[in-house]
Amino acid sequence: MIPKQDSSPVFFFPDVNDYKRLRDLLHQAGFLDAGVLQTLGLTDLPSVENDHPLLLDRTGSGSPLHTLIRLFLMELEVEAAILRQAIRPMTIESWQQAGLIRRHGEKVSAAVKLLPFQNLVLAFDLPAMLRSGQRQQYVMGIGGSTITLANLTIRKHSRQTLDLGCGCGVHAFLAAPHSDRTVAVDINPRALRLAEFNAGLNNIANLDCRQGNFFDPVAHEKFDLIISNPPFVISPETRFIYRDGGMEADSVCRQIVHEAPRLLNQGGFCQILCNWAQKNGEYWQKEMEEWFEGSGCDVWVMRSESLSAAAYASKWIRHTELDDRDMDFPHRFHHWMAYYEKLGIESFGAGLITMRKADKQKNWFRADESPANMLGQCGASVEQGFLLRDFLETVGDDDALLNTSLRHSPDLRLEQQFEPSGQGWKVKSSLIHLTKGLAYKGNSDTVIANLMIHCDGRKKLRNLVKDMAAAMGTSAPQVTPFACQLIRKLIEQGFLLPAEQKMK
Ligand SMILES: C[S@@+](CC[C@H](N)C(=O)[O-])C[C@H]1O[C@@H](n2cnc3c(N)ncnc32)[C@H](O)[C@@H]1O
Repeated sequence: MIPKQDSSPVFFFPDVNDYKRLRDLLHQAGFLDAGVLQTLGLTDLPSVENDHPLLLDRTGSGSPLHTLIRLFLMELEVEAAILRQAIRPMTIESWQQAGLIRRHGEKVSAAVKLLPFQNLVLAFDLPAMLRSGQRQQYVMGIGGSTITLANLTIRKHSRQTLDLGCGCGVHAFLAAPHSDRTVAVDINPRALRLAEFNAGLNNIANLDCRQGNFFDPVAHEKFDLIISNPPFVISPETRFIYRDGGMEADSVCRQIVHEAPRLLNQGGFCQILCNWAQKNGEYWQKEMEEWFEGSGCDVWVMRSESLSAAAYASKWIRHTELDDRDMDFPHRFHHWMAYYEKLGIESFGAGLITMRKADKQKNWFRADESPANMLGQCGASVEQGFLLRDFLETVGDDDALLNTSLRHSPDLRLEQQFEPSGQGWKVKSSLIHLTKGLAYKGNSDTVIANLMIHCDGRKKLRNLVKDMAAAMGTSAPQVTPFACQLIRKLIEQGFLLPAEQKMK
């Protein structure tokens, strides 16, 4: 979607030293994740409520930190005189000129949100802009999708990284420390200006910001990593550049996955958050597989959500309308549903697509459900998921699998619940789970749990399956097909790992 005329303020300090001054001032005040969370007594920042009485009480001292929190996080007016003291040696006038604040007589309000996030401080638009005449150019901040992609990004060394649809620049900045060079692309000039401002504020030097449509500004370059949180929402609207790709159904994401392989180096990864239309939800994997035919990439689609058309429309309209008693809500809902009906869309899938460029005879494709829990940084688990699927490709028949030795993940745990019985405690349920990254979990009977714990990297799987069959009072050939199917699943989810292979 091409933005209408851009009427952004500059988001720029004419004196280049002001970026460092602002950075130092925020650090000295304690305006970083930990300091702000501690002051507010909260566990996460994106959800700060504006005039919560408790938060007001906790930020009333007039200290620089309290003043900055009230101004930029709680979006309250503060006294100009107090702010002037708090931001010395900078001046209110320079902040106003840079587009950070607005002056109303003796009071000052924020013109952007300024949020600490993972040791960065990021400027982006105030939510109120969604209801203004400038709404189309709204630059989003740290949303749920931002955090999901940040946690799932593969953070290994990259010679060149692309953040496609960079918004305020967050993914580019998070990738900068593990990339020699990072390119941030966005079609919205306002987003680019905020990203450039944020790059200065966070002292990110190895970054190049470029305006343009998707891959146009980098058409002749190659990347080891492409990350994108694109405007993936599927709707008949084109109201917001950050949300509406302006193409039919899921064509935005299709176009990105279609074009990305051409820009990837061998072994390079493209990770994109995606929503897709499911014409027949039951066969979603088959529908998705068609997207990647001839891509020259191994592909792993992790679905985190599937919503009916009605639930999807309601969720996304609520995102921006904020109040569902709004007269526009039923009208919009009807409009969205009619669009889905016309396109024959039954439901929507959402999740992460990871592609790895691999020129070989036959690329693999996997699509499965993501675990309910993703704990902390999961990029290493995603990369390991690729190595495990590569391994499974090499042991296609059961005999080959049985000839290998496996070891259990160090993050494997077994939880059992017991219930009283005539003979004392009886096992009611056994749950295996992983404690880090992609923290898959599943029921496991004691027999399988025992097989797993004996996977020590030395014994051949064939012998362990034999022992398991004996414990069950049956023969190895009887249990082998089922056991191998289950073991493949346990390998795919990272519970069991090939003994010889070095894993992440
Ligand atoms: C969902 S937002 C993501 C922002 C940020 N990367 C994040 O994760 O928080 C999508 C971004 O894609 C940008 N965008 C939309 N259409 C685009 C296009 N055709 N080419 C490049 N960027 C586009 C929007 O301006 C917006 O910044």
